Amino acid sequence: MKINDAYNQWAAKYDTNENKTRDLDALATRQSLANIPFSSVLELGCGTGKNTIWLSDQAESVLAVDFSREMLQIARQKIKKNTTTFVEADLLQPWTFIQQPVDLISTNLVLEHIEDLGPIFQKVKPWLAPNGHFFICEFHPFKQYQGSKARFEEEGATITLTAFTHHLSEYLEAAKAAELELLEIKEWFDDGKKEVPRLISFLFRNG
Ligand SMILES: C[S@@+](CC[C@H](N)C(=O)[O-])C[C@H]1O[C@@H](n2cnc3c(N)ncnc32)[C@H](O)[C@@H]1O
Repeated sequence: MKINDAYNQWAAKYDTNENKTRDLDALATRQSLANIPFSSVLELGCGTGKNTIWLSDQAESVLAVDFSREMLQIARQKIKKNTTTFVEADLLQPWTFIQQPVDLISTNLVLEHIEDLGPIFQKVKPWLAPNGHFFICEFHPFKQYQGSKARFEEEGATITLTAFTHHLSEYLEAAKAAELELLEIKEWFDDGKKEVPRLISFLFRNG
């Protein structure tokens, strides 16, 4: 099944299914960005708006992009501020949805669906204001090595989405090529347990 179709199918239950990854990402995002200054945000792959709602409370403007119409539909119902704009677009296509650089570009649980990180970092770079930040939170590579992928249950069947393993070096090399400075890497664990980390987050700055 195509990724877009799978998210359209998942959308109605995305917010209510048990999903440790979704919930830990919400925590990681709020904690990681709590002390980062930003007033304009581009969110890549906003989904049902789990993080958009928080970003919209912090920023003066949020542009939230996703290619799943059904995920966006739920996000639109959740966030009705006129300072938040939702756009249906594929991140792999040219970014015609953005007109001016922003202070923060944030993406969560999206890059596992994108095979090559390099072009994403290259697209991020020109749309980051000077000293702007790029925040990423994704499945930790260790978790991916164990086989973790986005998946959901539908009528008793498990639907597993197309996902690509990204090694730590892929993020670091893509950032270096785009001339983004690494400020912080954090690992996020389930329930305070220090076993295999579920998520990894990166904070980069446009120097
Ligand atoms: C696991 S959900 C995460 C949603 C949200 N960021 C969150 O943390 O709850 C992944 C989202 O990425 C979107 N997505 C994946 N590949 C995309 C692409 N190439 N262009 C736009 N959106 C994409 C999907 O439609 C889906 O809404």
